[in-house]
Amino acid sequence: MKVLSVVLLLELLFCGIYATHQGYKLYEITPQTKEDVDFLHKFGEEKFDIWREGRTIGQPTDIMVAPEDQEYFENELTKHGLPYEIVVEDVETILQKEKLERGMTRSLQAGDITFSSYMFLEEHMAYLRRLANDYSDIVTVESIGQSYEGRDILLLKLSSGQNSANPKPAIFIDAGIHCREWIAPPVALYAIHQLVENASNAHLYENIDWYILPNWNVDGYEYTTTENRLWRKNRRLTEGAACYGTDLNRNFGYEWMFGGASDNPCAETFAGPEPFSEPEAQAFRDWFLANNEHIKLYLSFHSFGELLLYPWSYDYIVTDNTDELYELAVKAVTAIENASEMGSSYYVNSSAVGLYQAAGVTTDWVYAEAGVELSYIYELPNGDAPYWFMIPARQILPVVRETWAGIYAMWEYIEDRFVVQANSSPDLSFILRKDAN
Ligand SMILES: *[C@@H]1O[C@H](CO)[C@@H](O)[C@H](O)[C@H]1NC(C)=O
Ligand SMILES: *[C@@H]1O[C@H](CO)[C@@H](O)[C@H](O)[C@H]1NC(C)=O
Ligand SMILES: *[C@@H]1O[C@H](CO)[C@@H](O)[C@H](O)[C@H]1NC(C)=O
Ligand SMILES: [Zn+2]
Repeated sequence: MKVLSVVLLLELLFCGIYATHQGYKLYEITPQTKEDVDFLHKFGEEKFDIWREGRTIGQPTDIMVAPEDQEYFENELTKHGLPYEIVVEDVETILQKEKLERGMTRSLQAGDITFSSYMFLEEHMAYLRRLANDYSDIVTVESIGQSYEGRDILLLKLSSGQNSANPKPAIFIDAGIHCREWIAPPVALYAIHQLVENASNAHLYENIDWYILPNWNVDGYEYTTTENRLWRKNRRLTEGAACYGTDLNRNFGYEWMFGGASDNPCAETFAGPEPFSEPEAQAFRDWFLANNEHIKLYLSFHSFGELLLYPWSYDYIVTDNTDELYELAVKAVTAIENASEMGSSYYVNSSAVGLYQAAGVTTDWVYAEAGVELSYIYELPNGDAPYWFMIPARQILPVVRETWAGIYAMWEYIEDRFVVQANSSPDLSFILRKDAN
């Protein structure tokens, strides 16, 4: 007993004294050649955390480095002839500051929603459950499975009623697969809020069903609110690994590990020991394959970068329907930019070109294996965030509002192509689509 309590006391002291990111530095490096870009990218496949990646020459890359790796890191840069600047001397100090500015209070009435501060995981879940209760004629909430730590992964379905002989076209939205990208769940929750609680939007689910998974990496999100704001992966320890977590957005089974993913469990882009090794990815896969047939549009929300991206991600090649993917993206981006109070300006291209090559991501898998030909990643704005994914709470509302304009524009297209056009000449559109393949 005595020994135990001494250990406990020491642990408490230890945690209190030693902050997680004390002494971590953030380096900024600006690549001058394509080779520099690739050289910097490689650090992400080791245990270095790339906060911001310059996708081309002249765009700065920011990399966080632990105290014990700083000498090695600086030597590597010097050997390569790349100058660097230390933009944050001690990451812990900015994390402490950020914690004060989040505005998370646990004072929200159960089931309420807010977009003026960030919310805790259980508040997200309570909101979904309240809607299922208050709008039981149109909303259902189901758990698609459990996370590694046993939390339910909740999916909201919005439908004005099924005709099982002829199910409606559907739109699928997810957010929060990378749990530190905190602006993503509010975007999905705002879409839910507008769809369900704003009667003027009832026409959006008249002919189209919606599936929205606002917080996918639930263990990770909980961990970002309680332990480590910078956590990105899930929370399962791979057998024999020295570090926790798999990047769920590298764990999907299409061209898994082809490139832009790591086999090092300590890397932020660790792809897992095998495709679909992670319970959160398995749950999504199983649900999706059972329901994919009528899903016409897939949107996955991440931050940051003001990018709207479509397959492929695993390689620098284009899909057969790249023109349609591009045109729909431009329609969404035009609506967002028009609605933006913060001057957002999106770049549109394939994921590999627009962001970086990354295999095992959801958008590629949904496109290739689940047959959803309109598949997108949104990299949301970072607003005035001094440090990328830590966008200030006061900018949640401007981001969710403008992004809703983009989702709305995409809905218009789905409604037009799969409801209006399909009803006016069903046979013709079937033939046309066959020819296009
Ligand atoms: C409800 O939706 C309508 C139409 O999309 C929009 O004009 C209005 O601002 C929304 N109301 C709220 C409170 O968001
Ligand atoms: C631009 O925004 C205005 C309202 O702010 C709206 O009336 C108009 O339809 C929008 N245009 C486009 C192309 O989205
Ligand atoms: C995407 O990027 C490639 C390579 O930079 C470029 O050639 C192409 O025009 C871009 N596509 C679009 C639709 O902008
Ligand atoms: Zn992400």
